Amino acid sequence: MPARYTAAIVGCGSIAHAHMDGYALVDDIDVIAIADPVAHARSQYADTYADLHLQQFDSVEQMLVTAKPDIVSVCTWHLLHPAPTIAAAKAGVQAVICEKPMAIGMGAADSMIDACQASGTKLVISHQRRFTKGWVKARELMQQGVIGQPLFVTNKVAEGLTNWGTHSIDGSRFVLGDPQPQWVMGAVERRTDRFERDTAIEDACLGLVHFEGDIQLFIQSDLMREGATAGSFQIKGTEGMMEVSESRVRLMNASSNGWLDVEIGAGEADRAIGGNTNAAQVRELLQWLQGEVEEHRGSGRQARVTVEIMMGLYESARRQHVVNFPLTEKGYPLELMIAEDGLPVEVEGRYDIRAFLSWDGVDPARYKELAAEGKGHSQIMRQIHVELEKGEG
Ligand SMILES: NC(=O)c1ccc[n+]([C@@H]2O[C@H](COP(=O)([O-])OP(=O)(O)OC[C@H]3O[C@@H](n4cnc5c(N)ncnc54)[C@H](O)[C@@H]3O)[C@@H](O)[C@H]2O)c1
Repeated sequence: MPARYTAAIVGCGSIAHAHMDGYALVDDIDVIAIADPVAHARSQYADTYADLHLQQFDSVEQMLVTAKPDIVSVCTWHLLHPAPTIAAAKAGVQAVICEKPMAIGMGAADSMIDACQASGTKLVISHQRRFTKGWVKARELMQQGVIGQPLFVTNKVAEGLTNWGTHSIDGSRFVLGDPQPQWVMGAVERRTDRFERDTAIEDACLGLVHFEGDIQLFIQSDLMREGATAGSFQIKGTEGMMEVSESRVRLMNASSNGWLDVEIGAGEADRAIGGNTNAAQVRELLQWLQGEVEEHRGSGRQARVTVEIMMGLYESARRQHVVNFPLTEKGYPLELMIAEDGLPVEVEGRYDIRAFLSWDGVDPARYKELAAEGKGHSQIMRQIHVELEKGEG
């Protein structure tokens, strides 16, 4: 019997493998097509899943017209999230699962929301950690009031606010019950010409986010590597404290007798799908499509709030004052600040902290050799780029 839904993947790099793993674990979906302008990106991916006989396209538009998938995974770099999402919505696909960060700038985020609303396309942003057992348990405990009313949350991330920060801010909101932000204040340093997957990022930043209910979140990025993580945060409440990670929750309150490791048990992602959060994300999307849940927990609507917080923090640094929401700036405030000479680079030379993901100069034969050794995509790309730098490639 044919599967009920077909899916296609746009961008055949690292995270595209996680999307495939997720689809493979969910009944009723067949992945039928891929799109990527780089020929050996497509071929390494198609070879990995040779039994699926994936249709291969060098353009998203051609793929949409020919393969006509029901669901599209957008696995391209951040600045390339809106275009394929909008193209898929215009082609009338039922759903898009787009990678994080949703978009760089509110105008870009809104263009995705608007296009999906116009076509009735369900939009999910891959904040898949919302399905980890630690975060799910922590949200339940917060709802039960085990540490009273939340007051203050701390996040420590690295590798750019828009990269890891999107997960930690989204996760903090999820555990707190998705409160709406009211204002932010941020500070940014950018003395080197730093990029991440082609997006200009800061060298370091910190920010304070004020939510409804007088809950505040403090985030620091790239100031201290020790303990920096996209998946963990601490919450102080009126009656206690909680430390949350994807796999563990520790709690201290009047009855815990010091720090207590909370029994977490099997999370939603563990049931039938081996703890795979991408599969849990797809499963909930099918429930959303079939009207079994009101909204996906990782909807575009929720992810837009995280974009607004991050862009608000940059805008606050740009304006040098508190920024109240809704954020009116539609562009990318960090880039605007750079263009306005607000962040002069002191050490010349553009660099990208994910440069090893580039297909430029990658020899398909060398890729195949390393893949045959059982190495994963990122590991292969890192090794090839080290070899290219040493002149061995
Ligand atoms: N949710 C998570 O935990 C998580 C983890 C890793 C990466 N990501 C996100 O996934 C996205 C992709 O990151 P990655 O590490 O997989 O990158 P990658 O470089 O490994 O893969 C990107 C692929 O997109 C292709 N591409 C470029 N332009 C294209 C176009 N116009 N149409 C189709 N394909 C195109 C590239 O050729 C490349 O193969 C990023 O936004 C990143 O933030 C999310």
